[in-house]
Amino acid sequence: MNDGARFVLRCIGCKAEVAEAAGDFRCVECRDLLEVSYPWSDRKLFEGADAAALKQTWLSRRTSPKGCDQSGVWRFRELLPIVRDFEHVVTLREGNTPIYELPRCAVSAGVQRLLAKHQGMNPTGSFKDTGMTAALSVAREQNFKWVGCASTGNTSASMAAFAARAGMRSLVLVPQGQIAWGKLAQALEYGALTCQLATDFDGCVRVLGEVMRRFPVYLLNSVNPFRLEGQKTTAVEMLEQLEWRVPDHVIVPGGNLANSSALGKGFLELRALGLIEKLPKISIIQAAGANPLARSLREHHGEKLEPVRAETRATAIRIGNPASWKKAIAVLRATTGACEDVTEDEIAIAKAEIGADGVGCEPASAATLAGLKKLVHMHFVKPGETAVLILTGHLLKDPEYTLDFHSRPAADHDHTARSRRPPLSLEASADAVIHALNQAGGHA
Ligand code: F0G
Repeated sequence: MNDGARFVLRCIGCKAEVAEAAGDFRCVECRDLLEVSYPWSDRKLFEGADAAALKQTWLSRRTSPKGCDQSGVWRFRELLPIVRDFEHVVTLREGNTPIYELPRCAVSAGVQRLLAKHQGMNPTGSFKDTGMTAALSVAREQNFKWVGCASTGNTSASMAAFAARAGMRSLVLVPQGQIAWGKLAQALEYGALTCQLATDFDGCVRVLGEVMRRFPVYLLNSVNPFRLEGQKTTAVEMLEQLEWRVPDHVIVPGGNLANSSALGKGFLELRALGLIEKLPKISIIQAAGANPLARSLREHHGEKLEPVRAETRATAIRIGNPASWKKAIAVLRATTGACEDVTEDEIAIAKAEIGADGVGCEPASAATLAGLKKLVHMHFVKPGETAVLILTGHLLKDPEYTLDFHSRPAADHDHTARSRRPPLSLEASADAVIHALNQAGGHA
């Protein structure tokens, strides 16, 4: 047991337990990933505090002036005792993201009610902030000077911001020309040492591994199990917002497969602690061009994963060799969820539909709605069941994708055409604008 903090790191493969992790967060025995494990099976956490009292404590912290109370992650700190000093965690008041109804998307997907938890409403515009506050706070307690990650863009944006807040240096490795501008701009603005490498995400991971063996950088990729501790609190916050009524389905995009793992861990822990009775089915959606998990399940029953050469314009999930695939499989099995892949056009249409509901998101997030449509079609999701989509990133992360989609010239047999709203170039006159209004439906 870690001194001062009440957890061990356990290997998901050979189940070996260690108090301190090696720099690459892999088991020294079998090289599998580690996860944070607490002595909660005997419910010691609740000595003197029942579940109802705990829920009340979490709620009441929202009106406190303290940073660790205002954070939508550290508000639930009883579930992540991974730092010694909660008062000095590195926080940008992450979490606290809204749940929106998506009425038009519900009709399009064929369900009565559809909800979206918008993790793009985090301080740097993606769900990564919930994990970053956790892992970076651990890094600071361990007195690291440098933190680093390989990224498809959002992790790097988030890490750079939290490192800047903490007064630490950050190293970003991103695939040259393959990350969205909004994300690259963030890393630069927050002062990261930003290296664009002539390779893909999986190549950046390899290079970072080599760098870390030769230079003391604290690894903030999602193999870092403390990131998942922060990300799991999204499950808690979602349930609090739903007044502890567990939805039937939670649908999440899959890239490196850490977020699905984290959400699953959150729900499983809440059930183990007696805060909820049942689990939602957690389903993972990948882009068809970056679908190693979907293929593993189809072709090998999830027993092995063959890396693919990833290709998708949803650049956030352009990952061919996902690190956390075994954790994700365990979550799919524990919650009896599904894994599907969706095409580029399906993602683009779904994204425009989420936008038309006034919400908006980045392409990877829209894979969830595209996947839901498939799951309804397969009768895996029933029309009367409640589904929550996890929208992982903000619309403004990747404006180029959105502009390209809406401005693209219509081609024959193009079923995305109906979803496009191209900008009009008009002469500067009221007549021209009123003509456009009439063309667009007039007074009706
Ligand atoms: N959605 C967005 C917007 C992402 O940025 C990512 C991952 C995912 C979904 C997939 O989550 O990897 O936990 O399965 N982005 C990482 C990055 C890889 O570097 O920003 P996952």
